[in-house]
Amino acid sequence: MDIPASQQLLVLYSREQIEKRVAELGEAITRDYAGETVIMIGVLKGSAIFLADLARSTRIDCTFDFVAVSSYKKARSTSGAVKLLKDLDEPIEGKHVIIVEDILDTGITLSYLRKVFLQHHPKSLRIATCLDKPARRIQPIEADYVGFSIPNQFVVGYGMDFAEKFRNLPDICILPPDSTA
Ligand code: IMP
Ligand code: MG
Repeated sequence: MDIPASQQLLVLYSREQIEKRVAELGEAITRDYAGETVIMIGVLKGSAIFLADLARSTRIDCTFDFVAVSSYKKARSTSGAVKLLKDLDEPIEGKHVIIVEDILDTGITLSYLRKVFLQHHPKSLRIATCLDKPARRIQPIEADYVGFSIPNQFVVGYGMDFAEKFRNLPDICILPPDSTA
């Protein structure tokens, strides 16, 4: 009998824990941007679910935009080179921007995006990430809003994938190193 791949996964943060933490981040953003308008820029695809929850946990005037960058593809390691596959739809000049990311890992992706976006002269630029893996950092970059700081483990769920799978899991789960899922 086939055992579903999801049964090999270990829950790191449950949907309840995520919900509580995202609500806290939303409160912080609401406080920090009171009376301001913000563009939340999601990094596709991993941040989609986090952005949806985070945005709804704030009480600010905000719009969404999305970018897509080349990423891990089907491997567990990064090449170091980032390519913008989908650019912004709207100008960000003079606007408050929050980049919303699923995981800040080596920092290569967010360093690249920060550099590109700063060339457009936003009024301010901050980073919100659901997860932070500080141990893996190659580029010196920190997020302003961090859901959870985690050790160097590969995780899936809550938008995050392994070879495009598991994004729809409601919990954040650890994918065992030897998993062939
Ligand atoms: P960075 O450029 O190394 O910071 O890469 C960040 C991107 O790598 C994230 O946006 C994720 O898409 C991906 N990534 C890093 N760690 C994981 C993981 O544990 N699970 C799934 N994707 C990951
Ligand atoms: Mg990502």
